[in-house]
This record gives sequence, structure tokens and C-alpha cells, in this order.
Amino acid sequence: MPVTIKTPEEIEKMRIAGRLGSEVLDYITPFVKPGVTTGEIDRLCHDYMVNVQGTVPAPLNYTPPGHVPYPKSICTSVNHQVCHGIPGDRLLKNGDVVNLDITVIKDGWHGDTSRMFMVGDVSIQARRLTQITYEAMWLGISKVRPGASLGDIGHAIQKHAEGHGFSVVREFCGHGIGASFHEDPQVLHYGKPGTGLKLEAGMIFTIEPMINAGKKDIRQLGDGWTIVTRDHSLSAQWEHTVLVTGTGYEVLTVSAGSPPPPDFIAQAA
Ligand code: MF3
Ligand code: CO
Ligand code: CO
Repeated sequence: MPVTIKTPEEIEKMRIAGRLGSEVLDYITPFVKPGVTTGEIDRLCHDYMVNVQGTVPAPLNYTPPGHVPYPKSICTSVNHQVCHGIPGDRLLKNGDVVNLDITVIKDGWHGDTSRMFMVGDVSIQARRLTQITYEAMWLGISKVRPGASLGDIGHAIQKHAEGHGFSVVREFCGHGIGASFHEDPQVLHYGKPGTGLKLEAGMIFTIEPMINAGKKDIRQLGDGWTIVTRDHSLSAQWEHTVLVTGTGYEVLTVSAGSPPPPDFIAQAA
């Protein structure tokens, strides 16, 4: 499938979907505490999306080729879970780190974003992995402009992660997004500068690095979805949906509660 260039009208709808996705994370933040179950977090997010926002949770019953339908409305990936953790009876406890990944559909358009949450007092190691992964995502985002290549993004992420002794998961990548949840291009979180697709204004894709504290290898659990690190080391992930503008980038998945970009990202005046 070719990479689509969104029209100004489509971009406006993607801005709305992106903000709504981010607002689900704002809403759920105060509930992410020791003693809550991942299933309760899913139920709260589901009800907020459907009853307050009037959005559709894209994960619910999502069935890509080779998968059973995804049974819940969000993904909750705890500690050594890399991505696609299925919410359920698991209780969050002091010291856990959890990624909450939200994808909403509004007016037919998708907004896809995730953040890490620290539950109570978290180890220095887990905090460092979470912070370096956040910086890696932003270093990737900062490469986005017309004429840059996908390899520039992947390289920036890989260099930062590996430079701090961490590893980049290879099997999952960012993706084009719009009227479909997952579109071309595939946005690898590793690579070489100047290689791969050249970016053009109007492209929209996610950047969502999964970074492991130990080895990069993963495996899938018997539920058909949950991905874990093979060596059971911690894994972190952050995700934004990003538009290529005429001169650079615009992050679409922003809201009042979005964590600020790292200091090395120049702020618009
Ligand atoms: N939100 C994930 C992504 O960033 C995809 C989740 S698919 C699901 O691409 F079915 F597990 F929800
Ligand atoms: Co995504
Ligand atoms: Co996502």
C-alpha cells in the first residue's frame, strides 16, 4: 500500500483524534496507583472513551492477520511486558512500571499514543529506562521534516538507547495511521541515517520505541497478544502520532496533561 498524504481537512480530523487519545491518558493518570487492576483501568478508559468522548476504542476486537481478536479496549504492559499486554485481574503494586497504550477513533480517524506510568516508588533502573526511552522517542520525533528519511529517525532512537546500554526491540515498529489503524510506512526504531523512505509534508505516522533494559529478544505469550522480554528484563515504551509539516513536525497526540518534551527540544516561542 502506498504511503498516503493527508489533506488539510484530514489533518484537522487527525488533530482532534490525537488530542482525544492523549486526553484518555490525562483522565486515567490519577487512577494508576498501587492496588488497582489493569482490568479496572481498561474499564475506566473504555467508559470515558465511549460515554464521555464519543470515541471508539480501536483495539477492541481488532484482528490483524494471524491474530485472535484483541479482547479489550486498551493495552496495559507491566514491567517485562513489552507491548500489547491484555488488561485483566493483575493488581498494580508499588514499584511497577506500566505502559498504557490508547488508540481512539473519532469521525473515522485514529489517534494512537502511549505513556509510561510509575506505580508508587520505582527503582532507579526502571526510572532511567523510562526516561531514556522518552528521550529516544523525542530524538526520533526531532528528525521529522520534509526530505529527512525514516532511517534518520531509527538511527537517532537506536543510538540513544544503545548508548545507555539498553536494546531496541526489532519486531514492532511505528506505523502510518489515518483512516486505518496501521498503514504504511513501517517506522523502524533502528537504522542508518539517510536510508529508507524520504518524508514528505502531509505524512502521518507513529513513533513508538520499545526499549529493553536487557537483551532485545522477545516472545509472545499463549494469549496470542502479550509480548514479553525473553530474559524477563524490564521494557519501556512511549508513543506519539506525528505529522510531517512543511518545515518540520507537529505532534498530534498532545493535550493539557502531556509530559513536556525534554529540554533538548527547542520550544516554539
Ligand atoms: N496501539 C498499538 C500500536 O501502537 C497497537 C495495539 S493493537 C491491539 O500500534 F490490538 F493490541 F490493541
Ligand atoms: Co501505534
Ligand atoms: Co499504540
